[in-house]
Amino acid sequence: MHNSSPTDPSAPSNARGAGLGNPAEGHAHAKAILFGEHAVVYGAPALAVPLHGLGAQADIRLTPGRETRIDSQLFSGTAQAAPPQMGPVVAGLCAALEATGDETAEVQVGIRSAIPHSRGLGSSAAVATAIARAVADLRGKVLDRDALHAVVARAESVAHGRPSGIDAWAVASQVPIRFQSGRAAAIDVGRRLIFVVADSGLQGSTAEAVAGVRELRAAQPKIVETAISHLAELTEHAVDDVRSGDRATLGSRMLDAHKLLRSIGVSSPALDALVEAALGAGAHGAKLTGGGLGGCVLALADSDEQAERLALALRTAGAPRTWTTEVSTT
Ligand code: MEV
Repeated sequence: MHNSSPTDPSAPSNARGAGLGNPAEGHAHAKAILFGEHAVVYGAPALAVPLHGLGAQADIRLTPGRETRIDSQLFSGTAQAAPPQMGPVVAGLCAALEATGDETAEVQVGIRSAIPHSRGLGSSAAVATAIARAVADLRGKVLDRDALHAVVARAESVAHGRPSGIDAWAVASQVPIRFQSGRAAAIDVGRRLIFVVADSGLQGSTAEAVAGVRELRAAQPKIVETAISHLAELTEHAVDDVRSGDRATLGSRMLDAHKLLRSIGVSSPALDALVEAALGAGAHGAKLTGGGLGGCVLALADSDEQAERLALALRTAGAPRTWTTEVSTT
Protein backbone atom coordinates (compact mmCIF):
# COMPACT_ATOMS: atom_id res chain seq x y z
CA MET A 1 0.00 0.00 0.00
CA HIS A 2 1.28 3.43 -0.90
CA ASN A 3 1.37 6.18 1.66
CA SER A 4 0.53 9.83 1.27
CA SER A 5 -0.03 12.66 3.68
CA PRO A 6 -3.31 12.16 5.53
CA THR A 7 -4.04 15.84 5.06
CA ASP A 8 -3.76 15.58 1.27
CA PRO A 9 -5.88 12.75 -0.05
CA SER A 10 -4.90 13.53 -3.63
CA ALA A 11 -1.61 12.13 -4.83
CA PRO A 12 -0.59 13.71 -8.14
CA SER A 13 1.86 11.85 -10.33
CA ASN A 14 5.39 13.19 -10.57
CA ALA A 15 5.65 15.49 -13.53
CA ARG A 16 8.66 14.62 -15.65
CA GLY A 17 7.96 16.65 -18.74
CA ALA A 18 7.99 14.01 -21.44
CA GLY A 19 8.93 15.61 -24.71
CA LEU A 20 7.93 15.05 -28.30
CA GLY A 21 7.66 11.33 -29.02
CA ASN A 22 8.29 10.17 -25.47
CA PRO A 23 5.25 8.66 -23.81
CA ALA A 24 4.20 10.15 -20.48
CA GLU A 25 2.17 8.12 -17.98
CA GLY A 26 -0.52 8.46 -15.40
CA HIS A 27 -2.12 5.95 -13.03
CA ALA A 28 -5.13 5.70 -10.75
CA HIS A 29 -6.77 2.93 -8.75
CA ALA A 30 -10.31 1.67 -8.21
CA LYS A 31 -12.38 2.61 -5.17
CA ALA A 32 -15.07 1.04 -3.04
CA ILE A 33 -17.69 3.04 -1.19
CA LEU A 34 -17.82 1.68 2.33
CA PHE A 35 -20.74 3.84 3.47
CA GLY A 36 -23.03 6.50 2.08
CA GLU A 37 -23.57 5.70 -1.61
CA HIS A 38 -26.76 7.28 -2.94
CA ALA A 39 -27.20 9.31 0.29
CA VAL A 40 -24.11 11.29 -0.80
CA VAL A 41 -26.02 12.50 -3.89
CA TYR A 42 -28.35 14.36 -1.45
CA GLY A 43 -25.56 16.01 0.52
CA ALA A 44 -25.03 13.28 3.14
CA PRO A 45 -21.47 12.20 4.00
CA ALA A 46 -19.89 9.06 2.52
CA LEU A 47 -16.80 7.02 3.22
CA ALA A 48 -14.69 5.46 0.46
CA VAL A 49 -11.60 3.28 0.48
CA PRO A 50 -8.91 2.87 -2.22
CA LEU A 51 -8.59 -0.50 -3.99
CA HIS A 52 -4.87 -0.42 -4.71
CA GLY A 53 -4.67 -3.78 -6.41
CA LEU A 54 -6.97 -2.74 -9.23
CA GLY A 55 -5.70 0.01 -11.48
CA ALA A 56 -5.95 2.02 -14.68
CA GLN A 57 -3.01 3.38 -16.62
CA ALA A 58 -2.75 5.89 -19.45
CA ASP A 59 0.21 6.74 -21.65
CA ILE A 60 0.31 9.64 -24.01
CA ARG A 61 2.63 11.08 -26.64
CA LEU A 62 2.51 14.10 -28.89
CA THR A 63 1.80 13.31 -32.53
CA PRO A 64 1.83 16.73 -34.26
CA GLY A 65 0.14 16.79 -37.65
CA ARG A 66 -1.76 13.56 -37.06
CA GLU A 67 -5.28 13.09 -35.77
CA THR A 68 -5.69 12.47 -32.05
CA ARG A 69 -5.93 8.73 -31.51
CA ILE A 70 -7.08 6.55 -28.61
CA ASP A 71 -6.11 2.91 -28.12
CA SER A 72 -7.99 1.01 -25.43
CA GLN A 73 -9.64 -2.35 -24.73
CA LEU A 74 -13.00 -0.82 -25.71
CA PHE A 75 -12.00 1.07 -28.86
CA SER A 76 -8.99 1.87 -31.00
CA GLY A 77 -9.13 4.66 -33.54
CA THR A 78 -9.29 8.42 -33.91
CA ALA A 79 -10.99 10.48 -31.20
CA GLN A 80 -13.31 11.81 -33.93
CA ALA A 81 -14.57 8.28 -34.65
CA ALA A 82 -14.92 7.23 -31.00
CA PRO A 83 -18.31 5.65 -30.13
CA PRO A 84 -20.58 7.16 -27.44
CA GLN A 85 -19.27 4.84 -24.68
CA MET A 86 -15.87 6.53 -25.15
CA GLY A 87 -17.49 9.93 -24.42
CA PRO A 88 -16.08 10.20 -20.87
CA VAL A 89 -12.55 9.39 -22.14
CA VAL A 90 -12.72 12.00 -24.90
CA ALA A 91 -14.20 14.58 -22.49
CA GLY A 92 -11.49 13.85 -19.90
CA LEU A 93 -8.73 14.10 -22.50
CA CYS A 94 -10.04 17.44 -23.85
CA ALA A 95 -10.43 18.82 -20.32
CA ALA A 96 -6.90 17.71 -19.37
CA LEU A 97 -5.35 19.22 -22.51
CA GLU A 98 -7.25 22.45 -21.88
CA ALA A 99 -6.26 22.57 -18.18
CA THR A 100 -2.60 22.17 -19.06
CA GLY A 101 -2.55 24.88 -21.69
CA ASP A 102 -3.28 23.63 -25.21
CA GLU A 103 -6.50 21.88 -26.06
CA THR A 104 -5.61 21.65 -29.76
CA ALA A 105 -2.55 19.42 -29.30
CA GLU A 106 -2.60 16.19 -31.34
CA VAL A 107 -1.80 13.19 -29.20
CA GLN A 108 -1.91 9.43 -29.10
CA VAL A 109 -3.35 7.97 -25.90
CA GLY A 110 -3.12 4.36 -24.74
CA ILE A 111 -5.41 3.17 -21.95
CA ARG A 112 -5.16 -0.07 -20.02
CA SER A 113 -7.51 -0.77 -17.16
CA ALA A 114 -7.99 -3.84 -14.99
CA ILE A 115 -11.05 -2.23 -13.37
CA PRO A 116 -14.25 -3.78 -14.69
CA HIS A 117 -16.71 -1.11 -15.81
CA SER A 118 -20.29 -0.73 -14.54
CA ARG A 119 -19.40 -2.52 -11.31
CA GLY A 120 -19.44 0.45 -8.90
CA LEU A 121 -15.64 0.42 -8.61
CA GLY A 122 -14.97 3.86 -10.13
CA SER A 123 -13.67 2.62 -13.48
CA SER A 124 -14.59 5.77 -15.45
CA ALA A 125 -13.16 8.13 -12.80
CA ALA A 126 -9.95 6.08 -12.56
CA VAL A 127 -9.41 6.14 -16.33
CA ALA A 128 -10.06 9.91 -16.44
CA THR A 129 -7.65 10.46 -13.54
CA ALA A 130 -4.96 8.36 -15.22
CA ILE A 131 -5.41 10.39 -18.44
CA ALA A 132 -5.30 13.71 -16.57
CA ARG A 133 -2.09 12.69 -14.80
CA ALA A 134 -0.53 11.46 -18.04
CA VAL A 135 -1.35 14.76 -19.80
CA ALA A 136 0.10 16.73 -16.87
CA ASP A 137 3.22 14.54 -17.02
CA LEU A 138 3.50 15.16 -20.77
CA ARG A 139 3.39 18.89 -20.17
CA GLY A 140 5.79 18.80 -17.23
CA LYS A 141 3.09 20.07 -14.89
CA VAL A 142 1.45 18.89 -11.71
CA LEU A 143 -2.29 19.36 -11.56
CA ASP A 144 -3.19 20.36 -8.02
CA ARG A 145 -6.10 18.58 -6.32
CA ASP A 146 -8.72 21.02 -7.49
CA ALA A 147 -7.48 21.16 -11.07
CA LEU A 148 -7.34 17.36 -11.24
CA HIS A 149 -10.86 17.03 -9.90
CA ALA A 150 -12.19 19.66 -12.27
CA VAL A 151 -10.85 17.61 -15.19
CA VAL A 152 -12.22 14.32 -13.88
CA ALA A 153 -15.58 15.94 -13.10
CA ARG A 154 -15.93 16.82 -16.81
CA ALA A 155 -15.46 13.15 -17.74
CA GLU A 156 -17.74 11.96 -14.93
CA SER A 157 -20.58 14.23 -15.95
CA VAL A 158 -20.53 12.56 -19.37
CA ALA A 159 -20.34 9.09 -17.75
CA HIS A 160 -22.96 9.50 -15.02
CA GLY A 161 -25.02 12.64 -15.57
CA ARG A 162 -24.77 14.54 -12.27
CA PRO A 163 -22.49 12.55 -9.97
CA SER A 164 -21.81 13.58 -6.36
CA GLY A 165 -18.10 13.73 -7.16
CA ILE A 166 -17.02 11.08 -4.65
CA ASP A 167 -15.57 8.75 -7.30
CA ALA A 168 -13.26 11.45 -8.65
CA TRP A 169 -11.81 12.02 -5.17
CA ALA A 170 -11.70 8.39 -4.10
CA VAL A 171 -9.74 7.08 -7.11
CA ALA A 172 -7.08 9.76 -6.58
CA SER A 173 -6.65 9.21 -2.84
CA GLN A 174 -4.16 6.75 -1.37
CA VAL A 175 -6.08 6.62 1.91
CA PRO A 176 -9.77 6.34 2.96
CA ILE A 177 -11.73 9.54 2.64
CA ARG A 178 -14.84 11.08 4.13
CA PHE A 179 -16.59 12.97 1.35
CA GLN A 180 -19.46 15.43 1.58
CA SER A 181 -20.78 18.16 -0.73
CA GLY A 182 -17.69 18.32 -2.91
CA ARG A 183 -15.13 18.18 -0.10
CA ALA A 184 -12.93 15.23 0.82
CA ALA A 185 -10.84 14.66 3.94
CA ALA A 186 -8.46 11.80 4.71
CA ILE A 187 -9.41 9.47 7.56
CA ASP A 188 -6.87 7.93 9.92
CA VAL A 189 -7.05 4.14 10.14
CA GLY A 190 -6.60 2.70 13.66
CA ARG A 191 -6.35 -0.94 12.67
CA ARG A 192 -5.66 -2.74 9.38
CA LEU A 193 -8.86 -3.57 7.48
CA ILE A 194 -9.10 -6.44 5.01
CA PHE A 195 -11.89 -6.37 2.47
CA VAL A 196 -13.02 -8.89 -0.10
CA VAL A 197 -14.77 -7.42 -3.13
CA ALA A 198 -17.02 -9.85 -5.01
CA ASP A 199 -18.28 -9.15 -8.52
CA SER A 200 -21.89 -10.22 -9.06
CA GLY A 201 -21.00 -10.56 -12.75
CA LEU A 202 -23.87 -8.21 -13.59
CA GLN A 203 -23.46 -4.67 -14.80
CA GLY A 204 -25.15 -1.92 -12.83
CA SER A 205 -25.69 1.51 -14.36
CA THR A 206 -25.00 4.19 -11.75
CA ALA A 207 -27.05 6.73 -13.71
CA GLU A 208 -30.02 4.31 -13.76
CA ALA A 209 -29.68 3.51 -10.04
CA VAL A 210 -29.47 7.21 -9.11
CA ALA A 211 -32.49 7.99 -11.31
CA GLY A 212 -34.46 5.14 -9.66
CA VAL A 213 -33.79 6.56 -6.19
CA ARG A 214 -34.77 10.03 -7.40
CA GLU A 215 -38.08 8.68 -8.71
CA LEU A 216 -38.76 6.78 -5.49
CA ARG A 217 -37.98 9.93 -3.50
CA ALA A 218 -40.53 11.87 -5.56
CA ALA A 219 -43.17 9.16 -5.12
CA GLN A 220 -42.44 8.13 -1.50
CA PRO A 221 -40.33 10.86 0.09
CA LYS A 222 -40.58 9.47 3.62
CA ILE A 223 -38.98 6.12 2.77
CA VAL A 224 -36.05 7.71 0.97
CA GLU A 225 -35.52 10.59 3.42
CA THR A 226 -35.49 8.15 6.35
CA ALA A 227 -32.99 5.91 4.58
CA ILE A 228 -30.75 8.88 3.72
CA SER A 229 -30.69 10.15 7.27
CA HIS A 230 -29.92 6.66 8.67
CA LEU A 231 -27.20 6.15 6.05
CA ALA A 232 -25.72 9.52 7.06
CA GLU A 233 -25.66 8.47 10.73
CA LEU A 234 -24.06 5.14 9.86
CA THR A 235 -21.37 6.91 7.86
CA GLU A 236 -20.49 9.29 10.70
CA HIS A 237 -20.26 6.41 13.20
CA ALA A 238 -18.29 4.32 10.71
CA VAL A 239 -15.68 7.08 10.39
CA ASP A 240 -15.14 6.73 14.15
CA ASP A 241 -14.98 2.90 13.85
CA VAL A 242 -12.30 3.16 11.14
CA ARG A 243 -10.31 5.55 13.34
CA SER A 244 -10.62 3.33 16.42
CA GLY A 245 -10.22 0.05 14.50
CA ASP A 246 -13.47 -1.51 15.71
CA ARG A 247 -13.99 -4.10 12.98
CA ALA A 248 -16.97 -5.86 14.56
CA THR A 249 -19.04 -2.69 14.88
CA LEU A 250 -17.98 -1.51 11.44
CA GLY A 251 -19.13 -4.84 10.00
CA SER A 252 -22.53 -4.73 11.64
CA ARG A 253 -23.04 -1.19 10.36
CA MET A 254 -22.21 -2.48 6.84
CA LEU A 255 -25.08 -4.90 7.07
CA ASP A 256 -27.41 -2.14 8.32
CA ALA A 257 -26.34 -0.01 5.35
CA HIS A 258 -27.04 -2.86 2.94
CA LYS A 259 -30.58 -3.23 4.32
CA LEU A 260 -31.19 0.51 3.93
CA LEU A 261 -29.90 0.45 0.35
CA ARG A 262 -32.20 -2.49 -0.31
CA SER A 263 -35.10 -0.46 1.09
CA ILE A 264 -34.53 2.19 -1.60
CA GLY A 265 -34.44 -0.38 -4.38
CA VAL A 266 -30.77 -0.50 -5.40
CA SER A 267 -29.93 -4.04 -4.31
CA SER A 268 -30.75 -7.17 -6.32
CA PRO A 269 -31.23 -10.89 -5.57
CA ALA A 270 -27.65 -11.57 -6.73
CA LEU A 271 -26.20 -8.90 -4.42
CA ASP A 272 -28.34 -10.07 -1.48
CA ALA A 273 -27.17 -13.66 -2.04
CA LEU A 274 -23.52 -12.58 -2.00
CA VAL A 275 -24.06 -10.63 1.23
CA GLU A 276 -25.62 -13.76 2.79
CA ALA A 277 -22.73 -15.92 1.56
CA ALA A 278 -20.18 -13.55 3.11
CA LEU A 279 -22.02 -13.53 6.44
CA GLY A 280 -22.33 -17.33 6.31
CA ALA A 281 -18.55 -17.56 5.89
CA GLY A 282 -18.00 -15.41 8.99
CA ALA A 283 -17.52 -11.90 7.59
CA HIS A 284 -17.87 -9.08 10.12
CA GLY A 285 -20.27 -7.52 7.65
CA ALA A 286 -21.05 -7.13 3.98
CA LYS A 287 -22.95 -4.78 1.71
CA LEU A 288 -23.35 -3.74 -1.88
CA THR A 289 -20.91 -1.03 -2.92
CA GLY A 290 -21.42 1.81 -5.41
CA GLY A 291 -24.57 2.39 -7.42
CA GLY A 292 -25.91 -1.16 -7.03
CA LEU A 293 -28.55 -2.91 -9.19
CA GLY A 294 -25.60 -5.03 -10.36
CA GLY A 295 -21.95 -4.54 -9.55
CA CYS A 296 -20.15 -5.66 -6.44
CA VAL A 297 -20.43 -6.61 -2.79
CA LEU A 298 -17.83 -5.58 -0.22
CA ALA A 299 -17.18 -7.90 2.75
CA LEU A 300 -15.05 -7.18 5.82
CA ALA A 301 -12.76 -10.02 6.92
CA ASP A 302 -11.08 -10.52 10.26
CA SER A 303 -7.75 -11.88 8.97
CA ASP A 304 -5.94 -12.81 5.76
CA GLU A 305 -6.91 -16.46 6.28
CA GLN A 306 -10.54 -15.58 6.74
CA ALA A 307 -10.40 -13.36 3.64
CA GLU A 308 -9.36 -16.44 1.66
CA ARG A 309 -12.33 -18.37 3.04
CA LEU A 310 -14.66 -15.47 2.25
CA ALA A 311 -13.38 -15.22 -1.31
CA LEU A 312 -13.95 -18.95 -1.81
CA ALA A 313 -17.45 -18.77 -0.32
CA LEU A 314 -18.32 -15.78 -2.52
CA ARG A 315 -17.09 -17.51 -5.67
CA THR A 316 -18.98 -20.66 -4.70
CA ALA A 317 -22.09 -18.49 -4.28
CA GLY A 318 -21.74 -17.30 -7.88
CA ALA A 319 -19.25 -14.41 -7.96
CA PRO A 320 -17.20 -14.85 -11.15
CA ARG A 321 -14.28 -13.03 -9.51
CA THR A 322 -13.18 -11.58 -6.21
CA TRP A 323 -10.41 -9.23 -5.14
CA THR A 324 -8.90 -8.97 -1.69
CA THR A 325 -7.55 -5.62 -0.59
CA GLU A 326 -6.28 -4.10 2.61
CA VAL A 327 -6.50 -0.66 4.09
CA SER A 328 -3.36 -0.12 6.16
CA THR A 329 -3.07 1.79 9.40
CA THR A 330 -1.96 5.40 9.11
C1 MEV B 1 -21.33 5.94 -7.26
O1 MEV B 1 -20.05 5.37 -7.04
C2 MEV B 1 -21.97 6.37 -5.99
C3 MEV B 1 -23.36 6.98 -6.06
O2 MEV B 1 -23.60 7.55 -4.78
C4 MEV B 1 -23.50 8.04 -7.14
C5 MEV B 1 -22.73 9.32 -6.84
O3 MEV B 1 -22.29 9.53 -5.72
O4 MEV B 1 -22.60 10.11 -7.80
C6 MEV B 1 -24.42 5.92 -6.31
